[in-house]
Amino acid sequence: MTPTLILIALLFQLQAILAFTPASPTNSTLDAVGLNATETTQITLQWFSHGSYAQFIVTAARSKDSTGISKGALVHFSEDKANKDTPTTSVPWIAFISCDANSTLASLDTDIFTLAKSKGALAAILYTPYSQTCVLNPELGTASNLDIYVTPTPSSAKLLDYQFQSSQIATQNNPADALVDYDAAKLAKLQADIESSIKQGYAVSGEYLVATISAFNATADAVTEDGKGAGEAGSASNSTAGTESGTAGKNSAPERGRADVVYIVTLFVGAVLAAAVL
Ligand SMILES: *[C@@H]1O[C@H](CO)[C@@H](O)[C@H](O)[C@H]1NC(C)=O
Ligand SMILES: *[C@@H]1O[C@H](CO)[C@@H](O)[C@H](O)[C@H]1NC(C)=O
Ligand SMILES: *[C@@H]1O[C@H](CO)[C@@H](O)[C@H](O)[C@H]1NC(C)=O
Ligand SMILES: *[C@@H]1O[C@H](CO)[C@@H](O)[C@H](O)[C@H]1NC(C)=O
Ligand SMILES: *[C@@H]1O[C@H](CO)[C@@H](O)[C@H](O)[C@H]1NC(C)=O
Repeated sequence: MTPTLILIALLFQLQAILAFTPASPTNSTLDAVGLNATETTQITLQWFSHGSYAQFIVTAARSKDSTGISKGALVHFSEDKANKDTPTTSVPWIAFISCDANSTLASLDTDIFTLAKSKGALAAILYTPYSQTCVLNPELGTASNLDIYVTPTPSSAKLLDYQFQSSQIATQNNPADALVDYDAAKLAKLQADIESSIKQGYAVSGEYLVATISAFNATADAVTEDGKGAGEAGSASNSTAGTESGTAGKNSAPERGRADVVYIVTLFVGAVLAAAVL
């Protein structure tokens, strides 16, 4: 083969192992209106010890047999760091995916949701800290094999992303131990703890964020086997949670069992946090 042919063959091979993101960021109010402005789908993040943060997200697609409830470790997922050869995991996890750009070598064969699903992802959240929200390419909407949600505002995207720092802080001695990006080996190491956290309804150890997504029309219950709802396990005192007030005034505080005082404290901390992040 000539060097050119070898180069072309190599490029094809590189492309084949990566995946494109069938979505894009948007500021269009038309797209934003297309999203369900009154939807009350909630994500709750929890970290050690007894920290929690909750906010609303919006459904972009639901898989056929979805109950609308997903629980697992939230991790960044990107085609820059994962490909078809990346090991898969049986530990429950949820993919946090930027819709701002495709990998420069993204292939048109596999989309990132199919890739995430093949690694065991239970759901995906698309986010953009720079634009209003993310929109899926239309052809994906009805044929998704994964529940896909989007952040409704740039600040909601930033605040979710910011919580990875909470898990890093929770590792205390070694922030590098925190599970931030998809990593099958780290997930395997944390398997017992993550599964126990989901069962108990709070993070039993540091190093990861436990996410509970509860869709507005869920057909299952978000309550754990031990009878605790996500975020109810003593989140008051150490919570850095905030409920973001959305641009359209559509977000109110999450409904699940909190006293008014906790709300106010939570909203205040959230506002301070928002000011610090934005
Ligand atoms: C949306 O607006 C922000 C701020 O003006 C800009 O940085 C961003 O690139 C815009 N996004 C799109 C998709 O046009
Ligand atoms: C939008 O959300 C509301 C409340 O959560 C729900 O009743 C309604 O069915 C949703 N509409 C669509 C089109 O999903
Ligand atoms: C709050 O955090 C402090 C220090 O991290 C810890 O000692 C305390 O037990 C925590 N309280 C609760 C209710 O988790
Ligand atoms: C990524 O690539 C797909 C396929 O070409 C395209 O439809 C999508 O808009 C791209 N997304 C971004 C953020 O560039
Ligand atoms: C829940 O709402 C989403 C978005 O409107 C829809 O795609 C899905 O089919 C609904 N699921 C159920 C069980 O009603």
